[in-house]
Amino acid sequence: MKKVITYGTFDMLHIGHVHLLRRAKALGDYLYVGISSDEFNALKNKQAYYRLEERRTIVEAIRYTDEVLVEQHWEQKRHDILQHNIDIFVMGDDWKGAFDHLSDICQVIYLPRTVGISTTKIKRDLHHER
Ligand code: CTP
Repeated sequence: MKKVITYGTFDMLHIGHVHLLRRAKALGDYLYVGISSDEFNALKNKQAYYRLEERRTIVEAIRYTDEVLVEQHWEQKRHDILQHNIDIFVMGDDWKGAFDHLSDICQVIYLPRTVGISTTKIKRDLHHER
């Protein structure tokens, strides 16, 4: 069984997230999705609209997700990959090159992002509509 993993905040789930998860799952048989905890987001100066438990429930409801992990710190990816015997690590290409150091333990793939959508853009567009 080929195991795939991807990570993100997945706040206000949008079509770019769904496309990413669909393509990630299609690379193998079992998809782990690592979701940033609220504390990890704070560390990255990011604040999600939905709390972790809501984001987790939403991502778990996506048909491509087999299992959700919570990401608490930067060093966790290597640990997760080894612990779960991951074959392929996938991220959107906004992260291109950032995780090449993991290629000693699995395949690293950057998928093209869906153009024209992000959580940041949704927040900005809604703000401008007020
Ligand atoms: N992603 C994508 N296409 C988009 C938006 C996101 O493929 N249009 C991918 C990212 O590259 C990442 C995953 O979805 O691999 C989770 O991204 P995340 O950072 O949670 O979503 P964004 O919408 O980029 O959030 P933000 O604007 O807060 O950075």
